[in-house]
Amino acid sequence: MGESPPDKVTTTAGRLEQCGAAADTLGPFSAWSPGKVYTHMAHPVWFNGSLRSDEECMVHVRSHALHYGSAVFEGVRAYATPDGTQLFRLRDHLERLFWSASLYRIPVPYSREELHAACHEAVAASGLESAYLRPIVSRGDCGLGVIPAKMDVVDVAILVTNWGAYLGEEGREKGIRACITSWQRPAPNTIPPGAKAAGNYLSSQLIGLEARERGFDEGIALGTDGLLSEGAGENIFIAQDGVLYTPPVSSSILGGITRNTAIQLAADLDIPVREQALAREQIYQADEMFFTGTAVEITPVRQVDHLPIGGGEKGPLTSRLQDAFFGLFEGRTQDRWSWLEPVRR
Ligand code: COI
Repeated sequence: MGESPPDKVTTTAGRLEQCGAAADTLGPFSAWSPGKVYTHMAHPVWFNGSLRSDEECMVHVRSHALHYGSAVFEGVRAYATPDGTQLFRLRDHLERLFWSASLYRIPVPYSREELHAACHEAVAASGLESAYLRPIVSRGDCGLGVIPAKMDVVDVAILVTNWGAYLGEEGREKGIRACITSWQRPAPNTIPPGAKAAGNYLSSQLIGLEARERGFDEGIALGTDGLLSEGAGENIFIAQDGVLYTPPVSSSILGGITRNTAIQLAADLDIPVREQALAREQIYQADEMFFTGTAVEITPVRQVDHLPIGGGEKGPLTSRLQDAFFGLFEGRTQDRWSWLEPVRR
C-alpha cells in the first residue's frame, strides 16, 4: 500500500537527461520535473476482483492495451456533501463503460452490479471524503496481433485518487485561456469519439500539448469539417443572447455525462440550450463560454486565441450553472434526478 520507490521516477528522468532526450523531445516541457507532473495514487486499487496495493497490480508488458490502446475507461467523481461522500452519476458512467467495451468487443468479466459495488468499495477503502475514480477495462496479454488471439484476457482496475480542479482552482473560479489548435479531431467513422477508449486520448495529448507549448491553459479542436468539436478532455458550451449552444454528438465529441448534466440543469433554470453544429467564429462572438467534464467539472473559458470571450471573465449564465452544479454537492440544489448515491462505508 506504501508509496512506490521514488527512485523509479528519478531514474527515468536521469536516463532522459543522459541521452539528451529531454532537450530533444520535450521542448518547453523539459523544465517540468517528473515529480511536478506525476500524480501518485497511494490508495488501494480494486484490481481484478479485490483491493490491492499499487505494487500488487500487475499489468503485463505484452498487454494489448499498452501496444494498441485497447482499453476503455471512465472518470467518476465522489463529492463530500453534507450527507457524507456521494458518488455522482456512477450508474451512467458504468453504462457508458460497458457500451465502450462492447463497441471494441472487449468482454467485461464483471457485471454492472459487481463494478458498481467495487467502486463503492474502492472509495470507502481510500478513506477520502472526495475522490476521482478511474475505472478501466483493458485487454491484457492476449497475443501481439492487432486482433487478439484470446478475446477473454481482460484486466479491470478501479483507481481512486484525490484530484482537485483539473485546470486549477483559479481557472475553475475565474476562467481559463484556451486556443484552437492545428490538430483536429478524428474524422467521422474513423475512431469513434463517443466511446471512451484510451487510444482516443492520443488526439487529446496532441491538442493539449500544442496549447501548453503556445502558452495556453487548454486546447480546443475543430472536426475535419472545420466545425467546433471539443477541448482536449472537455465538452464546450458557448452562450449568446441568453441561449446556450453546444456541439452535437455528431461533431466528433464524447457525449459527456457532465455535458448532459449541464443541459438538464440549464433546463431546470429555464435557460434554453441548443445542440447544434457551431462555426469557429461563433466562439469569438460569444458572450460566455465554459467547459464541462468529470475532471474539469464546469470551468469558465475567459479567452480564446488571445480574444476575450464576452467581457473576458466568467459570465452570468456560467455562474448560475456552476452554482446549480456545485449546489448539488453542497446541498443547495435538490437532486431531482437521483444522480447522487452515498458511498457505502
Ligand atoms: C474526465 O473528465 O474524467 C476524463 O476522463 C478526461 C480526462 C482528460 C481527464
